[in-house]
Amino acid sequence: MNFRLLGNRVNPLFSNTFVLAPHVVSFKPVNNCDMNASFFDKHSIRLIQAPMAGSQNHRLAAAVFLAGGLGSIPAAMLTTEQLQTELSAFEDAIASLTDIPLQWGGCLPVNVNFFCHTPPTEQLEKEAAWRQQLTPLYQAHGIDPQSVGSGPGRAPFSEESLKLMGQFKPAVVSFHFGLPKAEWVQQLKSWGIQIWSSATTVQEAQWLEQEGVDAVIAQGLEAGGHRGMFLSEDLSTQMGCLALLPQICKAVKLPVIAAGGISTAAAVSAAKALGANAVQVGTAFLTSHEATTSALHRQALMSDAAKHTALTNLFSGRPARGIVNKFMRDFGPLNPEAPAFPLATSAVAPLRAAAEAKGQSDYSPLWSGQNASDCQALPAADIAHKLLQGWT
Ligand SMILES: Cc1cc2nc3c(=O)[nH]c(=O)nc-3n(C[C@H](O)[C@H](O)[C@H](O)COP(=O)(O)O)c2cc1C
Repeated sequence: MNFRLLGNRVNPLFSNTFVLAPHVVSFKPVNNCDMNASFFDKHSIRLIQAPMAGSQNHRLAAAVFLAGGLGSIPAAMLTTEQLQTELSAFEDAIASLTDIPLQWGGCLPVNVNFFCHTPPTEQLEKEAAWRQQLTPLYQAHGIDPQSVGSGPGRAPFSEESLKLMGQFKPAVVSFHFGLPKAEWVQQLKSWGIQIWSSATTVQEAQWLEQEGVDAVIAQGLEAGGHRGMFLSEDLSTQMGCLALLPQICKAVKLPVIAAGGISTAAAVSAAKALGANAVQVGTAFLTSHEATTSALHRQALMSDAAKHTALTNLFSGRPARGIVNKFMRDFGPLNPEAPAFPLATSAVAPLRAAAEAKGQSDYSPLWSGQNASDCQALPAADIAHKLLQGWT
C-alpha cells in the first residue's frame, strides 16, 4: 500500500470517515494505456458513474473519480468544441493529483461516452405530420407552429470525436446503440483506450464480444434514459438486470458491468454476487450536488411521481425511461407517429421551454430509472461512498 498516494486522495470534507479511493489502494505502476483485461482489478474500479447526457458534466465525473469510482463525460449532446472544454476542465479538476499520470499510464482517468446511431434519412413528411398533431399544444402555449424547427438533437461519434479522443486519450470510451465503424474502434484501441458498450440482450453482448470490445455494460430494463438496444427494436426482448446480468456473464468471457436500478450498497452486492465486475449507476447521482439536473427534474425525482416511470419515444424517437408526465400520458408513452431518433427532439423543444418557463415539467424528459427512491440531495462523493460499501 502506498500511503503517499493514499494521502493525495483523501477528501478533506470527509477525512474522519471512509474516504480512501479504493482504486489507489491497489496501485501498481503501468507503462502505457494498455490496461485491457485487468482494468477493473488493476484500478480497483467497481463503481462507474453512468454517463447522463443533459444532466451532468465534468464536475460530477471528477467528484466520483475522487471518491473512488470512475466518472463519465457524456458527449451525445455536445459539439466537439464543447467536449474539448469539458475534457480540459476535467483535467484541471484532477490536476492536483500528482500520481495520476503514473498510475493511469498517461491516460485521462475518465470514461467518455458517445451515441453511435446511424442518422436517419430525412423524414420531412413524418416530422410535419407530427408537428401537425402537436399544433393544438403549440397554440395553447402561444407558440407559432411555423417557427418549430426540425433536425437532430444528438450527434453520433464522428471523425472529429475520434481526433479529440486521440488528443486526450481517456482511459475508456463507451458507446450506446452498438459501435461505430470498425476502423474507428481499432484506432481507439491502438491508443490503449478501453472500449465498452451497452448490451440489452445476450445476443448484443455476444455481438459486442465478437467486435472486440473490452467490457460489456449489461443494461437492465430498469435503467433510466435511453435503452441501448441495437440489434432489435422489439421491446419484448428487454429484461431486468437480475435476469440479464447472469445470462450475459455466462455467455461472454468479457468483464461485465451491471446497470439498471442499482441505487444502494445492497444492490451493488447483489450485482457482484451475480458475476458483475463493476456497477454503473445513473439515477442515484441525478440529485447529487454536482449534477446539472434541472430543479424541476430534481423535484420530480424526489416526489411520488418518480414511482411511475415508463419507456417513451416521444422526446427523441427512441425508447427511453422517464417519469410519466402529461405529454407521455396524452400522446404515448410510445407513439409510432413520433419521428425517428433523434428527430423527435425538435418538435417538443419549444413546448418544453414554454412549460418550464411556467415552472411545469409537462413536456420535459424526466429521465429516471425504476428506482429513484434512494435519490438524495448529497455530494456525489457521499453517494459513491455508500454504494462502494456494497462491494467489500
Ligand atoms: C438522465 C439520464 C441520461 C442518460 N444518458 C445516457 C447517455 O448519454 N449515454 C449512455 O450511454 N447512457 C445514458 N443513460 C443510461 C445510463 O448509462 C445507465 O444505463 C442507467 O442510468 C443505469 O440505470 P439507473 O439509472 O437505474 O442507475 C442515461 C441515464 C439517465 C438517467
